[in-house]
Amino acid sequence: MKLCVFDTAEEASRQAALLIDAAVRNQPATVLGLATGGTPLALYREMIRACRAGTDYSRVTTFNLDEYCGLPASHPQSYRTFMDANLFSGLNIAPQNTHIPDGLASPAAHYCHAYEAEIRAAGGIDIQILGIGSNGHIGFNEPGSAFDSRTRVVSLTPQTVRDNARFFHSPDAVPRSAISMGIGTILEARQCLLLGFGEKKAQAVRAALEGPATTDLPASALQSHPDVLVFLDKAAASALSRRDQSSCHPVPKSRDENIF
Ligand code: GLP
Repeated sequence: MKLCVFDTAEEASRQAALLIDAAVRNQPATVLGLATGGTPLALYREMIRACRAGTDYSRVTTFNLDEYCGLPASHPQSYRTFMDANLFSGLNIAPQNTHIPDGLASPAAHYCHAYEAEIRAAGGIDIQILGIGSNGHIGFNEPGSAFDSRTRVVSLTPQTVRDNARFFHSPDAVPRSAISMGIGTILEARQCLLLGFGEKKAQAVRAALEGPATTDLPASALQSHPDVLVFLDKAAASALSRRDQSSCHPVPKSRDENIF
């Protein structure tokens, strides 16, 4: 893992966007794994800006981490609606190249299997963007998720329902289950880019980076991945024991000193 701490979430997002932009320019058929939530919004704005400035997304393929069960794609709070509004509508990406789990799929197990097959058929994910839940979840892999889990239907914890209630008119409207890529699916991405912003994420970030790798803290599974970049703002990094947070560091110590 390599850790980069930036003064602000905006600066971290700008740097993350530069990384994505370089990947798409170098390899026009890049496969991106995408996340929802508040965390990647500034990154997505920067990606749109770069596309308007000339980066070509026409051959890019995307796979989103998750979708709520029971919400049609057209629902205002579906992750399909979120992605169309906050990213895809601003890119010259082909709609058929954007993949988001279908929250109404039935039978779900068969559908989840097919979603995995689509990722494989696309050649696997080159860069997986991740946020982190306040309980350490990635995608909707809640504490207890096996590190070799695959795309499946998952139950959301009361904490996650509370955290995500801000997007719904009432906590009762938040779906209690979702389809999520598994941790094993995420770990197969060639590179993971974990973004964490705000003090609310500080404890989860500390546990993910400095605690033991445990299913109690799903993001700690990333410790075993050979190529993970962690971009934090100062608030999200505030609980880390590392003192010098002024630049990018390998975590834990690695012989490879190149940050990217
Ligand atoms: C949701 C998503 C996650 C996301 C997390 C954090 O639960 N399924 O992929 O990382 O929320 O959300 P936020 O970025 O809004 O804090």
